[in-house]
Amino acid sequence: MSQLICGFSKLTTGEKINRMASLLNLAGSETKLLESFWHSDQKIQQRLEQFSENTLSNFLSPFGVVPNFLINSKSYWVPMVTEESSVVAAAAHSAKYWFKRGGFHAEVISTSKVGQIHFLWHGDDGDKLAQLFSGLDGQIRAAIKPLITRMEERGGGVTSWKLVDRTNQMPGLYQILITFETCDAMGANFINSVLERVALEFSQGVEEASGFSTDELKVEIIMSILSNYTPDSLVRCWVECDISALNSPELGMDAAEFAHRFQTAVKISQIDTFRATTHNKGIFNGVDAVVMATGNDFRAVEAAGHTYAARDGQYRGLTDVTIQDDRFRFELTLPLSVGTVGGLTSLHPLAEFSLKILNEPDAKELMMIIAATGLAQNFSAVRSLVTTGIQRGHMRMHLLNILNQLKATPLEVERVKEMTHNQAISFSLVSETLNKIRKLH
Ligand code: MEV
Repeated sequence: MSQLICGFSKLTTGEKINRMASLLNLAGSETKLLESFWHSDQKIQQRLEQFSENTLSNFLSPFGVVPNFLINSKSYWVPMVTEESSVVAAAAHSAKYWFKRGGFHAEVISTSKVGQIHFLWHGDDGDKLAQLFSGLDGQIRAAIKPLITRMEERGGGVTSWKLVDRTNQMPGLYQILITFETCDAMGANFINSVLERVALEFSQGVEEASGFSTDELKVEIIMSILSNYTPDSLVRCWVECDISALNSPELGMDAAEFAHRFQTAVKISQIDTFRATTHNKGIFNGVDAVVMATGNDFRAVEAAGHTYAARDGQYRGLTDVTIQDDRFRFELTLPLSVGTVGGLTSLHPLAEFSLKILNEPDAKELMMIIAATGLAQNFSAVRSLVTTGIQRGHMRMHLLNILNQLKATPLEVERVKEMTHNQAISFSLVSETLNKIRKLH
């Protein structure tokens, strides 16, 4: 029978595990597994637990690094957190390939973020409300001053606000749209605190307005929240070289044919939504891995990227290729809202480490590094797709996962690797090869 569990979050970690184990009839060995993933340093474990609620253990993911990322002539070791076997290898391959061809070029186009206060006001004359909003400007500014002083000292703050009339889409709906500059912070808490303070001050200002009828004095604030869509926090990254310089033995074709096939594949992602989704997934394989490694919010980054991909009404691939005067240029433009201060960046020991090996970048530099990783990832994926096909590299990277599933010993792993060296890896090939080895011994 279903049972409502109350007070669970108040228990200690050990008590939570015991409570859950007794309710779900878990064996001691199963709960021991949770404990085996606790960090040996209690302070670190405590910190990890506090990031979330009802934490029982840590869910480990590989933390890797890609050397040879040359971005704007500066060399980086890029940290990546991902569980997908081929992602880091693909980024590493691409980084090395472009290192020899001038590296990645990147620029931050803009860094503005947006917050919205959505409210209902049922007066007849929207202009009257707009006038009142302008009149409240000084009062609202004074109210948010304590919240924004520190950000202003760092060069950021509120950059604009305006009242937006949406009554043609929903009766009574208005918004206060506020833009922010949050410097090296992602700024979600800062933005949301300012929005809530503005909403309060604004609704009080309306309630106290003179010359308004009783109905007009009522503002119903529905919600105040940042938008994760940041089309004005944009970064562009590109690689380029002469077509002849694309040559590489592993392509299995000449450079001109490769450039043509590569460009066609990218153009397909711009007209076909099914392909665009997979194409962009490949980009986010790289983007998310760096966003995670640096303690940033990958859900926010993904949401913004996908919305941007659909900005003209059709979801399209985020990269583009131009071939002109025998030059090949491959580029990615991406909205990114990330921080190098605040949030998890200094609280998660490995996020802190990631920023250290990146040489303590500011938010703009991090945007460029993340975009370069996304572009590198996309380059590797599309290159494989239009040359050897994706499965060759993919399954070779997946080989170890299959062997682990089949409980191969280290010796067996080496033997299977040798025996399948030149073959297309599949689960059946690996399991048959392993069986052969096992029969022989
Ligand atoms: C797999 O994680 C990502 C790819 O499917 C991306 C792509 O098709 O471009 C290889």
